[in-house]
Amino acid sequence: MRAHEAGALHGNDAAPTWLPYPTDVNTLIDGLWSRNTSRNSQGVVEVGGVDVHRIAEEVGTPAFVLDEDDFRHRARSFRDAFAEAFRPHRGADVYYAGKAFLCGAVVRWIDEDGLGLDVCTGGELAVALRAGFPGARIALHGNNKSVHEIRRALEAGVGRIVIDSLDEIELVSTVAEELGTRASVMLRVTTGVEAHTHEFIATAHEDQKFGLSITGGAAFDAVRRVLEVQHLDLLGLHSHIGSQIFDTGGFEVAARRVLDLVARIRDELGHTIDQLDLGGGFGVMYNTQHTPSTPEALAAGIAGIVEKQCHELELEVPHLSFEPGRVIAGPSTQTLYSVGTVKDVRLGGPHHRVYVSVDGGMSDNVRTALYDADYSCLLTGRVSDAAPEVVRVVGKHCESGDIVVKDEYLPGDVRRGDLVSVPVTGAYCYSLASNYNHVPRPPVVAVREGEIRTLIRRETEEDLLGLDVG
Ligand code: LLP
Repeated sequence: MRAHEAGALHGNDAAPTWLPYPTDVNTLIDGLWSRNTSRNSQGVVEVGGVDVHRIAEEVGTPAFVLDEDDFRHRARSFRDAFAEAFRPHRGADVYYAGKAFLCGAVVRWIDEDGLGLDVCTGGELAVALRAGFPGARIALHGNNKSVHEIRRALEAGVGRIVIDSLDEIELVSTVAEELGTRASVMLRVTTGVEAHTHEFIATAHEDQKFGLSITGGAAFDAVRRVLEVQHLDLLGLHSHIGSQIFDTGGFEVAARRVLDLVARIRDELGHTIDQLDLGGGFGVMYNTQHTPSTPEALAAGIAGIVEKQCHELELEVPHLSFEPGRVIAGPSTQTLYSVGTVKDVRLGGPHHRVYVSVDGGMSDNVRTALYDADYSCLLTGRVSDAAPEVVRVVGKHCESGDIVVKDEYLPGDVRRGDLVSVPVTGAYCYSLASNYNHVPRPPVVAVREGEIRTLIRRETEEDLLGLDVG
């Protein structure tokens, strides 16, 4: 494990204060790697019984390597933890947030494991339906749903449409009327919580595009309107405060404000809100700075918060639901890259920084550039006893911000052809991937019990050229 802070004696002196100097740079740090990851007797990292050289040979690099058991174990742990914590009341369901990572296989796992599925576009809905996911366990989100998306959702019998604006009430009601059906809806409310996370992934403060404001009155007006219109059934309220959140303080404030609204609806409209969705957003460990809770601790903490607030307001605890994405998908996957150019850049005085270029970059992981995310990295193709150096892992794109891992210790002898892995890339990496610089997107392969199964194949130049029909 990493033991002490980097000092002038160590490496190239470019380490940030949070990054301790490693006692053994070959160690798989606890919490960063999926459950079936280890080094074999040759010092090569294996996942799901397959070593990274075999993966590189069979599917090439870069590649997203998904530990199937790990993903499913996390999904079931969250399902069980929330169900258990709310068992004394009306129970709780977990909807996997497909935006984190979605493909047919994931949809089938989520179905088999009995979770619901949160989709937020027609495209995500199409993946779910093609894989045979039951409409009744789907929640459709989106701040700007098209008529086509709403129609498709209603035709598929989705269990809930989460309405995000006043005009969407009329839109969903009209489409439901046209189809001669009724729509079960939740209203997404904005609680005004300033979640302690990156500005771009906080979603409950007032000045952003999602939801209906509680303090501004739009949320109450929306409830009244939904109860008035003909073709909507109000299931309950929805709140999502943001992502990569570690403390339950934000959920506490959000739950209090939503439950205050539930009490007001009871008192002024005589209507009982039976269901509450508190969204997702639970943080994961991207590096040693992060200390996530267990599903059990999170669920128990939130259950305690909701029980207390309900008790004070003399409300029955509603049926709860949650929508974790990152905590299920993120830690299941590592991105396997091949090292290309290694460049030692002088920074003035004694300082220098080693830039290790890999064969992907911001097209397969834009989170570092977009959110200033901190990832970690490990030499996975072999062990080394060379002294650790602080490196910056960069991609192959024509952009200086094309950084995958800002700061990490790698062995000083890392060289062209080495295999390195970036862990915890299962959420919002493939799903945010692009073709920037006409770089084809990597495949996603599932590994399990010594087998490699391609879930999403590598994009080819032909795929890219095929879109260019002008
Ligand atoms: N429910 C709703 C309504 C959401 O908007 C989100 C995330 C989730 C659930 C799932 O949140 P999670 O448990 O995965 O944190 N691209 C960003 C994250 C954007 C999340 C958007 N909504 C990132 O890479 O950090």
